[in-house]
Amino acid sequence: MKIFNTKQEIKSYLTSKKEDNKTIGYVPTMGALHEGHLSLIKKAIEKNDLVVVSIFVNPTQFDNQDDLIKYPKTIENDTKLLESVSCDVLFLPSVEEIYAENIASENFDFDGLEHQMEGKFRNGHFNGVGTIIKTLFEIITPNRAYFGQKDFQQLQIIKKMVKKNRIPVKIKGCPIFREENGLAMSSRNTRLSKEHRTEAAFIYKILKKVRYKFNSEEANKINEWVESQFKEHPYLKLEYFTIAEEKTLKTIESKEYHKKYRAFIAVFAGDIRLIDNIRLKH
Ligand code: PAF
Repeated sequence: MKIFNTKQEIKSYLTSKKEDNKTIGYVPTMGALHEGHLSLIKKAIEKNDLVVVSIFVNPTQFDNQDDLIKYPKTIENDTKLLESVSCDVLFLPSVEEIYAENIASENFDFDGLEHQMEGKFRNGHFNGVGTIIKTLFEIITPNRAYFGQKDFQQLQIIKKMVKKNRIPVKIKGCPIFREENGLAMSSRNTRLSKEHRTEAAFIYKILKKVRYKFNSEEANKINEWVESQFKEHPYLKLEYFTIAEEKTLKTIESKEYHKKYRAFIAVFAGDIRLIDNIRLKH
């Protein structure tokens, strides 16, 4: 696996590959890699001639400095994992390499997607994500880029940014990977205490019940039910739960047959914030 730390080096390497008509599959990450990331990389390997993974903990997407400082960093293990799945290229830039002196976000208009759910609780988060992904796409110029559906809002926002800016890349959303107990895989899971990790299985249990209830119950009733379930929970604190349309991410008003819906949830386990979602049928 080739490892590059500078834009210039990786750009010139990838340019030579593009000249040989090689397609590039790209998986942007913030490291602390887990099975979920590896599944994205495997998908990228299947469909592209060359696979690039970046590891960059992007400061502009953190509204909480403590979360940024404590974000898990496991670069040695990440490198081994990437080698074990035959990743071709790792891009590992420093903050200075990406932002120079100006660690700031661009302001995006994602047609309202940014104001829903996570946008209400994580100030400036999606401007930070948009800024870094746009920058990384400019450096890597991938043919396809892969994102997990755990961050479903992020996925929709990136699709929107690509469309609005006419960036020539196909965005691929990939299924959520779960721990054995159902907890959605996330780099932040490593920061959970043993107890919280066990208790957090409750989140997916609730989502599965929501999927069942959605067949026959009104969204309002389901919201109330979810809230009551968390009120009684000694370890987990609900931040939000909502059933929303996949395309606009707006909270459902009444079920419309041609629309696709998902249930979205954010929960605190101690000071670790966990998000998850599930596709609903109707
Ligand atoms: O999902 C993530 O890990 C990050 O938000 C991403 C897409 C790598 C941008 O920093």
